[in-house]
Amino acid sequence: MKILRTIGEAQKLTTSLRKKNKTIGFVPTMGYLHEGHLSLVKAARKKADVVIVSIYVNPLQFGPKEDLSKYPRDFKRDELLCRKAEVDYIFYPDDKQMYPDKFSTYVTVENITSILEGRIRPEHFKGVTTIVLKLFNIVQPHFSVFGQKDAQQVAVIKKMNADLNVNTKIIVSPTVREADGLAMSSRNVYLTKEQRADAPYLQKSLQYAKRKILLEGYNKDIEFLEGQMSKLIKSRKTATKIDYISFNDYYTLEEIKSLKNSNNSAILISLAVRFGKVRLIDNIVIKR
Ligand code: PAF
Repeated sequence: MKILRTIGEAQKLTTSLRKKNKTIGFVPTMGYLHEGHLSLVKAARKKADVVIVSIYVNPLQFGPKEDLSKYPRDFKRDELLCRKAEVDYIFYPDDKQMYPDKFSTYVTVENITSILEGRIRPEHFKGVTTIVLKLFNIVQPHFSVFGQKDAQQVAVIKKMNADLNVNTKIIVSPTVREADGLAMSSRNVYLTKEQRADAPYLQKSLQYAKRKILLEGYNKDIEFLEGQMSKLIKSRKTATKIDYISFNDYYTLEEIKSLKNSNNSAILISLAVRFGKVRLIDNIVIKR
């Protein structure tokens, strides 16, 4: 496994791999890898000749009040995990490489970035799409693997790719969970013991809604379901604020106001909840 620190060496490598008809599978990450990331690597490993993982904590996707400086980092550990997972290359650039002085070009996907996460974190997706397009141009992957946990991120990147004719396939890999249902996230390390014990209620409340819909039919009232989910989450002392609970079309992210008249082939129920300063997201997809 090799570590590529500059855009020049990465682009030279990927150009030559493409000339040799090698399939490049790409997993973009912000490091502090956990089982969730490793499942993305595994999915890439199955289909690619060469697997490239990027590790870069992208300052552009953090808001002014967010946790950029405190975001967990441990490159040595990440390197070890990547080696074990049979990654071929880690692309590990610094800020000067990615955002040199006078950097002034940004990618903005409109509409679907101003709802859900985008309503709470207004500049977040502009940061994500800008860095992801840069990474695609550097790594030149045939396909890229993203986690289902960030369902809105996946929808936004797919929209960017469609609108800008970006030539990499997006593969979505299922969310990896702890035994009690908590979705794996680098941010879980911030949870206190009490918060950690309450956090699985996010998934419990999503499972509750899915069960109700599947067992009692699509005529269930969304307001009722949101109310019950909210009650379940608020029953946990350390869940301090629910930013949103939302029902959307999985593919277009259009909000679903009523299940009765909806003909969506897949419904995304997503939520974001604060446990003190730690903000967690999760979702579930119901396919018809
Ligand atoms: O999902 C993430 O970890 C990040 O948003 C990504 C895609 C690596 C871009 O910085």
